[in-house]
Amino acid sequence: MKLLIMGAPGAGKGTQATALADRYGVPAISTGDIFRFNIKNQTPLGVKVKEIIDAGEYVPDDVTEEIVADRLAQPDCEPGFLLDGFPRTMHQVHFLDRYLSERGERLDAVVSLHVEPEALVQRLLDRAIKEGRADDNADTIRRRMEVYAGQTAPLLFHYESKGLLVDVEGTGTVDEVRQRMFGELDAHVSQQ
Ligand code: AP5
Repeated sequence: MKLLIMGAPGAGKGTQATALADRYGVPAISTGDIFRFNIKNQTPLGVKVKEIIDAGEYVPDDVTEEIVADRLAQPDCEPGFLLDGFPRTMHQVHFLDRYLSERGERLDAVVSLHVEPEALVQRLLDRAIKEGRADDNADTIRRRMEVYAGQTAPLLFHYESKGLLVDVEGTGTVDEVRQRMFGELDAHVSQQ
């Protein structure tokens, strides 16, 4: 299976990604996690992207795409993959489409988690208290939401037009969302 999980900041992508990836025996690849790992370890990449991420902006496409290409070339991606947080721009969509078509491959589904904006902000503010993620402060959360709405939300139309979009209501307990997501995905796959 080759899957994407999309949604606004705080929609639950990372929370649901592991269960989804485990279900299909594929690695869950989060560009956000890769960046945070590099920031924590003060690698050249981490130093380059820290300010951008702390400000709630997107890392440049060429940097992000190179990381994703390297990761998808690893042997554990041969049976498939789940990308969490990629693509986020139309440039990245075209990059991924090209990457797959050059290999004669295609995506199976794009899971889109939907949660109302007020609930998203509350989740991120709650996480700030628990975990202290540098980009979970009120100003940066606002900017992340704006950037998502301007650059990433429109990409859902692209995947809808290709018949790949699986819309999932992301409100409720983590277990409820997971079961709903599996149900919607099964229905989508059985229709294909
Ligand atoms: P990334 O790490 O992807 O951040 P994000 O999209 O802002 O998403 P979050 O991780 O905040 O939320 P999530 O949807 O994964 O939800 P989560 O499960 O964590 O990216 C960070 C930054 O890296 C970007 O802003 C950008 O700068 C850069 N970047 C990454 N990819 C990029 C790309 N492709 N191009 C350019 N730049 C890129 O849950 C959030 C909270 O809610 C948690 O506390 C969780 O416990 C809680 N929660 C989850 N589900 C529920 C539920 N059902 N009920 C109640 N609480 C819940």
